Order: sequence, then structure tokens, then C-alpha cells
Amino acid sequence: MEQKIVFSGVQPSGELTIGNYIGAIKNWIELQDKYTCYYSIVDLHAITVPQVPKDLRKNTLDLLAIYLACGLDPEKSTIFIQSHVPAHLELTWVLNSISYMGQLSRMTQFKEKSQRSEENLNAALFTYPVLMAADILLYQTDLVPVGEDQKQHVELARDLAERFNNRYSETFKVPEPLIKKEGARIMSLQNPEKKMSKSDDNQNGYILILDDPDTIRRKVKRAVTDSKGEVKYNDEQLGIRNLMNIYSVFSGNTIEEIENKYDGLGYGDFKEDVAEVIIKELYPIQEKYNELINNKDYLEKVYSEGREKAEYVAMKTLRKVYRKVGFIQR
Ligand code: TYM
Repeated sequence: MEQKIVFSGVQPSGELTIGNYIGAIKNWIELQDKYTCYYSIVDLHAITVPQVPKDLRKNTLDLLAIYLACGLDPEKSTIFIQSHVPAHLELTWVLNSISYMGQLSRMTQFKEKSQRSEENLNAALFTYPVLMAADILLYQTDLVPVGEDQKQHVELARDLAERFNNRYSETFKVPEPLIKKEGARIMSLQNPEKKMSKSDDNQNGYILILDDPDTIRRKVKRAVTDSKGEVKYNDEQLGIRNLMNIYSVFSGNTIEEIENKYDGLGYGDFKEDVAEVIIKELYPIQEKYNELINNKDYLEKVYSEGREKAEYVAMKTLRKVYRKVGFIQR
């Protein structure tokens, strides 16, 4: 039986939150032992919003060091920088030709982002999901491990794969999103109706993977809860529900186990423990990161070898696509 193929990526657009970690990277680690995995640092996606060039370079290497520190293993997975494999852009163009403007304008993330910056809307922000579809389809991907907010984009990739296959004959595998229940949508600690995001103006809303222990303790302590005073999982206690999800992912306890453990105890005790399980998991990652980030030669070796492996596979699909649409072989 052939091994399933996994593809996913994170944008190097600043520091990562535990939302990115829980929704994506943490799940990637488990998958590398079972499947053929491709994990990309999607710098082409990052320029859909303005970036300072030197920061983008730094953030790209930082993210690579974080991938490795979290446990991605270049011996098991292909780890690469998106802009190093031009096939992503070449396939994007072909997929643009079968993408409908109507469908792209209905993408939730585009609608949200375009409302925020109506004046200087760039075209890349609009076609961003097509680039993401190209990322996924180039590798004949079966599974795409992401957080809930990317589900609609993976569905677009499915649509485009099917549309292309119908029009030009079977070419792409139709991928599926892989979204874990507890970590699908980690919410802001300051507003549990909003997704935790590094672009939040309020720094207390998110915890960064590289936050030090005291910062983590302080942010969790300040997390918005309610006046019920019971650690119970329901739709009325959104702040507590979010903290329970976080605790569950980091401790491995089920929601039921957490409810039992904190039965009769107040939010103070619970919050202290939430902070400690986060610190316990992040501390070794931070130590590893600090080691790796100074080892530029090693990072370069990892992304160079990754590029070679990714490009080989991507070009196989791209050649097929170019032939099917009627381009003469180069
Ligand atoms: P990005 O960089 O915004 O986020 C990276 C991953 O983190 C997940 N995530 C969350 N999960 C749970 N709770 C949260 N609060 C939270 N915030 C972020 C995201 O769902 C994502 O999985 N377009 C993508 C990157 C991308 C990609 C791809 C992903 C480009 N090409 C191909 C998969 C396959 C993005 O901007 O993710």
C-alpha cells in the first residue's frame, strides 16, 4: 500500500502563537512517522500583506528553527521554503485560469482582511487561496493538517482539483483537511469569541511559542473568564472552555478528566495549572530553538536539501499539468 501524503505550511509573518502550534505544528510531528510529509515555510503567502524585507528574511529562518525545535525531523519530512520551488507559482497561474472570481470573493479570510484594509487591497490577497491550492496539489496530497480557519481554503483546493480533473482528465489527488477537535480553534485569551492571532492588538490575547514562563503565567492569569466559578465545558463559559481546550492538548487529559480534577476548585488553581502545562511543553522547544537559531549552516543545509526533494516531486506534477493544458514541452 502506498503511504499517504501530507502537506502543510505556516506563514513566516512574525512570531508564532500557541494557536499555530496546537492547530498545526504539534499535529505535524505525529504524522511524520506514518506518512510522507511536506512542511513548507510559505513566504510567498506572507507578502500578501506588506513585509519589511529584512524582517521577512529573519522570520523565515526563525520559523525553520521553530519547526525543528518542535520536533520536525528533516530525515523524516521534507522541510522547505516555498519561494525556493517556483513550481508553486507556475501551478498557481494554471489554477487561476480555472478559478472563479465569485468563489474567491466568498472566502471568509479574504472578506475579513479586505474589510480591514479596503484602500490598498492587493491582487495577491485575492488569489492567495489559489496559491495555497497549488501548494497542496503539487505534492498529490491526501491530508492537510490545519486549524479550522484554513478549512475553507482546503475545500477550494478540492474544488480546483476536481474541476481540473474533469476538464483535462485525472491529474490531481483530491485532498482532505485534517482538523483535530480540541485544537481546531484556539481563542483569544482576552476575547474568547475571537481567534487567537498574532495580529491581535492586545498582546495579552495570545501566548507566543517563545514567551518566557513569567509572561505565560501573567497572560493566563489575566485571561477573561466568567463569574460562575466552575471549571465546566459548555457554550456559556467560552473563556474557560478555551483554557480547557488548551490544557487538554498540553496535558493529554480528556475534557471529562479535567472537569473531574477541578470539581470544587476555583479558577485560580486551574489557571495556575494551565500556565504550568504550557510552560512544561514550551520550555524544551525554546531551549532547542536558541541552539538552532545560531547554527545558520545547519539551517541552510536543511532548507537546501528540502528544496531539492520538494522540487523533484513538484516538477513531476507540473510537467503533467503543462502537458494536459496544451503547453509544448520545454
Ligand atoms: P497561518 O500561517 O495563518 O497559520 C498556520 C497554521 O496555524 C493554524 N492556526 C490556528 N489553529 C488553531 N487556533 C488558532 N487560533 C490558530 N491560528 C492559526 C492555521 O489554521 C494554520 O494551520 N494559508 C495558511 C498557510 C498555508 C497552508 C498552505 C496551509 C499556505 N499554504 C497549504 C496548509 C496547506 C496560513 O496562512 O496559515
